[in-house]
Amino acid sequence: MGQLTGPAESLASVQELAWSTDGGPLVLLLGPSFASTAGIGQILPFLTDHPEVAAILVTDELSTELLHVALRSGVKDVLAAPVTIDQLTAAVARVSETLGSASLVRDQTSDAVESDQGKVLTVFSTKGGAGKSVLAVNLATVLARRSDKPVVLVDADLQFGDIAVMLSLAPHHTIVDAVGSLDRLDAELLQQYLLRHQPSGLLILPAPLEPSFAEQITAEEIMQIVAILRTFCSFVVIDTPAYFNEVVLAIIEDSDEILLMAGLDIPNIKNVKIGLQTLRLLNLPLEKVHLVLNRANSKVKLDVSEVEKTLQIKAEGLIPSDVVVPQSVNKGTPVVIDAPRSGVAKSIEQIASMFLPDSRRR
Ligand SMILES: Nc1ncnc2c1ncn2[C@@H]1O[C@H](COP(=O)(O)OP(=O)(O)O)[C@@H](O)[C@H]1O
Ligand SMILES: [Mg+2]
Repeated sequence: MGQLTGPAESLASVQELAWSTDGGPLVLLLGPSFASTAGIGQILPFLTDHPEVAAILVTDELSTELLHVALRSGVKDVLAAPVTIDQLTAAVARVSETLGSASLVRDQTSDAVESDQGKVLTVFSTKGGAGKSVLAVNLATVLARRSDKPVVLVDADLQFGDIAVMLSLAPHHTIVDAVGSLDRLDAELLQQYLLRHQPSGLLILPAPLEPSFAEQITAEEIMQIVAILRTFCSFVVIDTPAYFNEVVLAIIEDSDEILLMAGLDIPNIKNVKIGLQTLRLLNLPLEKVHLVLNRANSKVKLDVSEVEKTLQIKAEGLIPSDVVVPQSVNKGTPVVIDAPRSGVAKSIEQIASMFLPDSRRR
């Protein structure tokens, strides 16, 4: 077992330690100076490269946030100081059990992704009003029109979701019904809860009608529903609220692709930067993250290349600012149908093409 007390200077010795065990299993004990988002961020690349290493983090102060970040970064256990020898021995025994199977678990995960399951595309932003719902609705509409298999848009902005309104549809059922019947839920029953947008064939799983219902829905329940949707859809597009919570984190982790939306102003970019850092901490492969800049033509604001430089990620979609967007929202029709020749529609078609098989690109 290796023991470390300080982040920066100890990283080199961690590397040495791993070499010296010849890639064999190793339990790594991280001291309280690693017990911060920054500290965990430093050890994260090492843990990612070394699945044979199980890390235990000891912290002076145990917060839910630290626990989440640590566990999601691959740390196997977190203990609050002072730690007794017995506690430590028990923790080492616990995490040791996970070691032999680490590589096996990884292989199984990648196999599942290869199968014929639908792709999950999540639209996320750390800022409200960034244009997430506009992109989610229009992207899903384009994908539905261009896919043979069904496309479902899930409104995971559980408190204030407005997808149904944006498509002028009145929900008979919502995600609450799906969660309520989870014990017997299969693809057939779930389809009965979906709303259909006639002009595009898009199917929608609406958010609860009452904001208070949101609290009753757990991350695990949403993930079970998404897993069923994957079995019969080509794409599951998920719209999210503008913050990280358990539900959003679980969705992001389970997504094949994440469209990160940002507007072109400084507070927006600052938020996106923090959002990106969180995504890195979640151990999320950054090739899954696609930056989409909204209102990208606004003159008063920032230059796209400047934003790319600040965020160290290239923008893969640029959506212009255009009055056709609020017009279409107010009509309850997606822009891609209402104003198909607009720059906004063309840009969203291009974003959709990134996810469609080559033969279907136009
Ligand atoms: N490219 C755009 N041009 C003009 N208005 C836009 C654009 N994108 C979004 N909007 C407007 O901004 C508002 C917020 O968009 P919305 O998608 O609801 O944001 P979010 O879901 O991120 O909170 C909407 O009323 C919409 O009409
Ligand atoms: Mg929204």
